[in-house]
Amino acid sequence: MSPVTVSLQGREVEMRPQETVLDALLRSGIDVAFSCRGGVCHACMLRCGEGEVPAAAQRGLPQGLKELGYLLACQCRPQRSLALEAPRASDLRTTCVLTAVEGRGTPFLRLRFEPMRTLAYRPGQHLRLVSGDGLDPVLLLTSDPMEDWQIEAVLHCPGGEPPLAWLREELPFGQEFEVWGPVESGAAAAGAELEPPAPDPALWHELDEGRTVRRVLEDFYAQVYADERLASFFEGVTIDRAIGKQYSFLQLMMTGEKVYFGERPRNAHHWMVISDELFDYRQALMVRTLEKHGLRPAQIARWTRFEEHWRRDMVKSAAWPKVMDGIEFPLHGYASEVLTSGSMCDHCGGEVPEGTEVLYHVRLGKISCPQCAPAVRSGADETAAA
Ligand code: HEM
Repeated sequence: MSPVTVSLQGREVEMRPQETVLDALLRSGIDVAFSCRGGVCHACMLRCGEGEVPAAAQRGLPQGLKELGYLLACQCRPQRSLALEAPRASDLRTTCVLTAVEGRGTPFLRLRFEPMRTLAYRPGQHLRLVSGDGLDPVLLLTSDPMEDWQIEAVLHCPGGEPPLAWLREELPFGQEFEVWGPVESGAAAAGAELEPPAPDPALWHELDEGRTVRRVLEDFYAQVYADERLASFFEGVTIDRAIGKQYSFLQLMMTGEKVYFGERPRNAHHWMVISDELFDYRQALMVRTLEKHGLRPAQIARWTRFEEHWRRDMVKSAAWPKVMDGIEFPLHGYASEVLTSGSMCDHCGGEVPEGTEVLYHVRLGKISCPQCAPAVRSGADETAAA
């Protein structure tokens, strides 16, 4: 029988018996959002482009999403291979409950509301109000999920006239409405990712149709893996993978051939805090390696142009969240949650009864009881500030 595989972001993983899709993806180093791992939070939702989705993987999802092929990776044990895709922002609808409206008659209506499922967002992003006519008005998110319990958003109402009929009425507390998103605001999205530079196929040819590129990379990564400043970033990544990815990335850059199926540099390095100085340090090592392999200064400049180009997408003082299809995946940080069943604190091991408000790590799903939460949170703040 042929092996069962799942593919995502251009990568294919062979499933092990009894393994969930989420476990298989994480085991292979594919970055996917997840939180509860129990089919409750829906953070690991993915869309099936090709294949047969097991019914258990869709349990609890709205009918509309089931029909679009959505599944929960943490509940999915497929019998046959699946081609998976990231969720589309416009598919992700959330029912919200309105709690307050301010600014009636002014050009900016301020809405306060609670989502009926976890909604991961950042202030400055947009939600779109589902209108039924396809012209979904934009809600600008102004609250901060780390600080505020309720979501606050501003709706632009030209002439003080709200764009949807139901918003013009006196709204009852508890009015339900649907939103989709969040999506990046236009300005952020425009600056979100750099476009690739123009290719240089002559350089690939001069480098012995890529054979010199491979030799350089083998030497370069051997030094990176032995370097005390760079090696720690590569923990859990095999050197062959690093060389292979970089080789196909450079082949794509130089020749324009679609041979690289990995992440664009911004997402690939989203969690790495890389200063300009560290980037220069890496580049100096690369230049020395290129010289060692006999490249002339002009060729070195043509090679490093392909790396320099992405500097702005990698250099940062704090980790960036990963963004795919306009959706931001919270891969670090903490949020508050009220437990719907009893559990144990992942820090002190103490029992945490149902109904307790806990702090949880959005990526690892680890919870901290109210006693441990302040220390955990201040540790996180210090890390972020460092
Ligand atoms: C100080 C600078 C840099 C550090 C510390 C660094 C670190 C890393 C690490 C640890 C990975 C492995 C990620 C994974 O497999 O999960 C990676 C992947 C990658 N890096 Fe870098 N990198 C640096 C600079 C660059 C530069 C200048 C480029 C070229 C533009 C580059 C291109 C890539 C590519 C294409 C991948 C593969 C992405 C994928 O797995 O899909 N990196 N880098």
